Amino acid sequence: MSAHIHKTHPIEGQKPGTSGLRKKTPVFMKPHYLENFVQAIFDTVGAAGKTFVLGGDGRYFNDRAAQVILKMAAANGAARVIVGRGAILSTPAASHLIRLNRTDGGIIMSASHNPGGPTEDFGVKFNMPNGGPAPEAVTEAIFARTRDIAEYRLWDGPDIDLDRLGEARLGDMAVTVVDPVADYATLMESLFDFDAIRAMVTAGFTMRFDAMCAVTGPYAHEILERRLGMAEGTVVQGTPLPDFGGHHPDPNPTWAHVLMDEMMGPDAPDFGAASDGDGDRNMIVGRGIYVSPSDSLAVLAANAHLAPAYRGGLKGVARSMPTSTAADRVAKALGIEAFETPTGWKFFGNLLDAGRCTICGEESFGTGSDHVREKDGLWAVLLWLNILAVRKQSVAAILRDHWKTYGRNYYSRHDFEALDARAAEEMMSRLKASIPTLPGTEIEGMSIAAADDFAYHDPVDGSVSRGQGVRIRFVDGSRIVLRLSGTGTEGATLRLYLERYEPDPARHAMDPQEALAPVIRAAHALAGIKEQIGRDRPNVIT
Ligand code: G1P
Ligand code: ZN
Repeated sequence: MSAHIHKTHPIEGQKPGTSGLRKKTPVFMKPHYLENFVQAIFDTVGAAGKTFVLGGDGRYFNDRAAQVILKMAAANGAARVIVGRGAILSTPAASHLIRLNRTDGGIIMSASHNPGGPTEDFGVKFNMPNGGPAPEAVTEAIFARTRDIAEYRLWDGPDIDLDRLGEARLGDMAVTVVDPVADYATLMESLFDFDAIRAMVTAGFTMRFDAMCAVTGPYAHEILERRLGMAEGTVVQGTPLPDFGGHHPDPNPTWAHVLMDEMMGPDAPDFGAASDGDGDRNMIVGRGIYVSPSDSLAVLAANAHLAPAYRGGLKGVARSMPTSTAADRVAKALGIEAFETPTGWKFFGNLLDAGRCTICGEESFGTGSDHVREKDGLWAVLLWLNILAVRKQSVAAILRDHWKTYGRNYYSRHDFEALDARAAEEMMSRLKASIPTLPGTEIEGMSIAAADDFAYHDPVDGSVSRGQGVRIRFVDGSRIVLRLSGTGTEGATLRLYLERYEPDPARHAMDPQEALAPVIRAAHALAGIKEQIGRDRPNVIT
């Protein structure tokens, strides 16, 4: 057995997007495709003598890709790789292991909420020693390396048995196979008041957690059913499958409609939640009431002090730019800083590392804190449970109370998927070109106060990220944001984000789509969506 050097040539299109490199699985399975990208990672961050974490969400090709990555790590001189049993780790659990073991980073195999299977999606991303996704400077360097790569290193030898816990070896490299759940569950127990949640469960509180046949199944069984004593059957679709049972493992009202139906039905449990393919997203639903991710972030920020880990208060709150400004209102009331970052969790890393913020969130069903450097689905669920256990109120009561205090930010995101990429880009270019002419004008009876193409100036390292989405703010505080997705693998996806603020409690019970109707009309008129991309209706509304 030895390290072999294989000749290769650059492959087009290995540019990491919002969250790593994502492609159709058959593309990843093409000769040299995975190998080139992984070698580019090692060439960029260095592998000799280093320790890495490796795991993925268990989707199709996860197991074989893990063997390749291990053999490449060994051939590139890595000292040790810590792998989740069966090559499985949820994204937040991987982030935790990277930090807990003070490693030099980790490789996560996932395409998050995108479907999995032989013809669906696969992905690979590198996380830094702080446990967070590599920042743009690093992903750019990896991409640059993929463009002049000439060879990769691969250990020549049999596969490692990743189902057996404990130590194994690949030449000089140690492979440590760990239980994917144990350390993560211990971390959660250290953050939240499990006794209070258990008492609430004993008193009759009921919950449904939909793991969507994805990675959080084993985590949820262990934490919710075993450690918190919830009834067996609380967790549904709890066995991870390589194709997620043929579903779209994305926890939103469209894809998690079975859970939604149950929560809106006559026999709804007190609380419902779902998580995505790799376990970093969450959807929260109360009995008869859906909690939008933007509202969830604001409620968590306002109530976090009820959980032991956040008893001392929050240092600050950060949200991605398209996320509603509801969290900003909470930050203001708490007298702490509020940050607005571009879409993608990687932008929160510096703020968390610098101790400038404690809780962060995105409208795309992502919430998390400084306990790891990824968003964390089960963390959000447990913080909600902790809050419910202390406040002894329903989700609906807590939400209404929140709106009464802060006002309600009606919010929705409309996605237009699988668009012709050129048409979508042209629409965005035209919109961007029109920006200077917009302020002071009226559209569909709404007056525009400001418009820009969002650029983020990182307050910690001074880096600037431009072109992060078009923002249009109206005089009444309403907002429209348009950007193209950076995670899709087919054509382009237009994301249209809509927000309207309503201070009057008498008007807090409207259907968000109705409340937002004027804003929606203004957005369509401004961007000329129908004329430019040939669609007048979104495929997914969240
Ligand atoms: C989407 C979400 C974004 C999230 C990312 C990874 O990216 O919008 O908030 O961080 O997935 O989960 P997009 O496809 O919009 O680039
Ligand atoms: Zn995810």
